Amino acid sequence: MAALRALDEAVVSLHLEDARGGEARFFELTFHVGGDDEEIPALDEAEQVGVEGKGRLVEVVREDVLGPVRPSRVAWTGESGYVFEIDLGGYLDTGIFLDHRMTRELVGSMAEGARFLNLFAYTGTATVHAAGGGAASTVTVDLSQTYLSWAERNMKLNGFSGRNHRFVRSDVVRWITEERASKRRYDLIFVDPPTFSNSKAMGKDTWSVQRDHAELLIGVSRLLARGGKAVFSCNLRSFKPDTETLERYGARLTDITADTIPEDFARNPKIHRCYLVERIETS
Ligand SMILES: C[S@@+](CC[C@H](N)C(=O)[O-])C[C@H]1O[C@@H](n2cnc3c(N)ncnc32)[C@H](O)[C@@H]1O
Repeated sequence: MAALRALDEAVVSLHLEDARGGEARFFELTFHVGGDDEEIPALDEAEQVGVEGKGRLVEVVREDVLGPVRPSRVAWTGESGYVFEIDLGGYLDTGIFLDHRMTRELVGSMAEGARFLNLFAYTGTATVHAAGGGAASTVTVDLSQTYLSWAERNMKLNGFSGRNHRFVRSDVVRWITEERASKRRYDLIFVDPPTFSNSKAMGKDTWSVQRDHAELLIGVSRLLARGGKAVFSCNLRSFKPDTETLERYGARLTDITADTIPEDFARNPKIHRCYLVERIETS
């Protein structure tokens, strides 16, 4: 299958049917195409990445992304009293994941006085909730300059700017390693990684939340200040946390998924999984 053409920056979603257990399930994979340090994926690579050889490509959603990018249709929406920029034209994702709105409210409710960190921040909607909830400072990290600029616009739209709000373009895995070497620590961290990524920036050939979450969350837990908490979410329906490894390295997970599923997703409660992450003493 032909490689995707270079697009300025676009998001392509593919549906893979999982052959496991004879059950037809669909995975949505997100590839970030373009940018300085990202590879343009071929669709047959996506097939390998998707379900580790057990899936097959059954559908390409929005084949129009293979042609010119559709023009943006920028609009604004409201949530919990905040204003967010959305794009109803140019991207597959509109700029706001609706299934996470209770998670964002939770982040806002925990943010008073906190040094807040948003990893894989996308359009920074959780940073806005944290700032609105009284965070003392925010750091918003994402690999994509497009999303980082969008996050900054969302913050400004809601009146949050200045030295206490930083935006960092970086690979999260690399950034965590560097940040651990510094003295900076955070009281509240939101971490919402992609399910799969074939970005070489993640330091491995592929990123898989199931395979790599323990390493990520151990790193995240080391960035927590004493008494700090992280909120970790992921959209892999079959996700199972490796609690044994995590506890061995001093990170305890509490499943709070049920408290974060909005009413209109109640019939589809597997839309995401959500956990609180805390440091524990290890013997
Ligand atoms: C929030 S995650 C995906 C969230 C959602 N749970 C899902 O599975 O679709 C998407 C964001 O992660 C960013 N991203 C992907 N890989 C990254 C990396 N290695 N470092 C930093 N940000 C990354 C993307 O640019 C994008 O803004």
